[in-house]
Amino acid sequence: MDKPTPNTVRVTGPSSINGSVRVPGDKSVSHRALLMSALAEGTSRIRGLSHGQDVLHTAAAVEVLGAHVMRNADGSVDVTGGTLTEPPVVIDVGNSGTGIRLMAGMVSAIDGLTVLQGDASIARRPMDRIAIPLRQMGAQVDGRDNGSYPPLVIRGGNLRAIEYAVPVASAQVKSAILLAALAADGETVVREPVRSRAHTEEMLAARGADLDVEGATVRIRRSTLKPLDDDVPGDPSQAAFWLAGAAALPGSAVTVEGIYLGHARGGFLEVLRRMGALVDVADSPAVPRAFDVTVKAAELVATDIAEDEIAGLVDEIPILAVAAALANGTTTIRGAAELRVKESDRIATTASMLRAFGVSVEEFPDGLAITGGATLKAAAVDSHGDHRIAMAAAILALAADGTTTIDGFTAVDTSYPGYLDTLVSVAASDPVG
Ligand code: S3P
Repeated sequence: MDKPTPNTVRVTGPSSINGSVRVPGDKSVSHRALLMSALAEGTSRIRGLSHGQDVLHTAAAVEVLGAHVMRNADGSVDVTGGTLTEPPVVIDVGNSGTGIRLMAGMVSAIDGLTVLQGDASIARRPMDRIAIPLRQMGAQVDGRDNGSYPPLVIRGGNLRAIEYAVPVASAQVKSAILLAALAADGETVVREPVRSRAHTEEMLAARGADLDVEGATVRIRRSTLKPLDDDVPGDPSQAAFWLAGAAALPGSAVTVEGIYLGHARGGFLEVLRRMGALVDVADSPAVPRAFDVTVKAAELVATDIAEDEIAGLVDEIPILAVAAALANGTTTIRGAAELRVKESDRIATTASMLRAFGVSVEEFPDGLAITGGATLKAAAVDSHGDHRIAMAAAILALAADGTTTIDGFTAVDTSYPGYLDTLVSVAASDPVG
């Protein structure tokens, strides 16, 4: 069991970070492994599942839907699935936007009523993006504000195939439709403007789903899934905190072992390289289909992150903004309006976190301009309940002289229990008090 993370954390800089670390299992893969194992007739063994609260909520949810979940002594998890049935209680997704959107698609195929709710942040996450296509498929989807916000009330069953162009690239939207389409008559076609992360189509194909992918279009026919034993690789979005930190904090060198670097997940490494960081990627000897990534500190220079890159680094923007704050020149991030509807309004919360340290930041509706290189002052910051803002602030605190206080730090437990222990283990001084 992970020990609970304190809500107020003090981090004292300056400090470099050094060493080798492992990060939790990839969150996107973990959610999908649980959902697809619940759909498959038989038992699937999942090794390396994320132990963050978001994924624990999804594990509890698939049990409520009728799957059997068993944790083994070696940490692996067995899921026995098959026929999912109308849940007898409300399903709580916690803080997880991925959980609620993917499950909305999956329960649209269940003949019965499902209610999905989450925390205060989930209640602000827009659901039209999934409700519109799922209604076209024949599900009844309702929620607050005319069906636009959770809690969601879904009456599923009897789905038909649709052709759907997703207006903004989103793996959550694509995945909700694909999971519903497993039970729909006919061929469902999902088109994205840019291909988002590809876990759903890849993992469905590995479990025998009848689908094909061409560019940013996925075609899928009614399918039953077979169980599969799977190793969840390390989460690149969590690795990014250590790797971007190593790039930007003088005297640092960090290796993160065994991370996933498939489609649309490694974009942050390309940005760090462009900024001048020394990045080395090698096959992981320990984790199948994963990579060991080493980053060493260098003098960083500003870069421009444009709209067509966003889908490949959407979750890494807070920590890339930290790297930008420590680089010479002005970094621009554009085409990232989606960040306004993540766990927090991440354009606003990233800007206010950076400004608290004395960084000069301009905010646009769809992005940020960050001028780096100024001497930072220790700050008092709030995570606004957003795990990635808390973790990014802890890295920037290592660049400032003095003690930074971060409130709302428990949010990190949604994705990365143990983050603080790793911070202590890689920092040159003992930074956490
Ligand atoms: C995710 C997709 C992304 C990302 C989220 C996880 C997923 O959202 O921000 O943390 O697992 O499908 P989009 O729906 O914007 O792609």
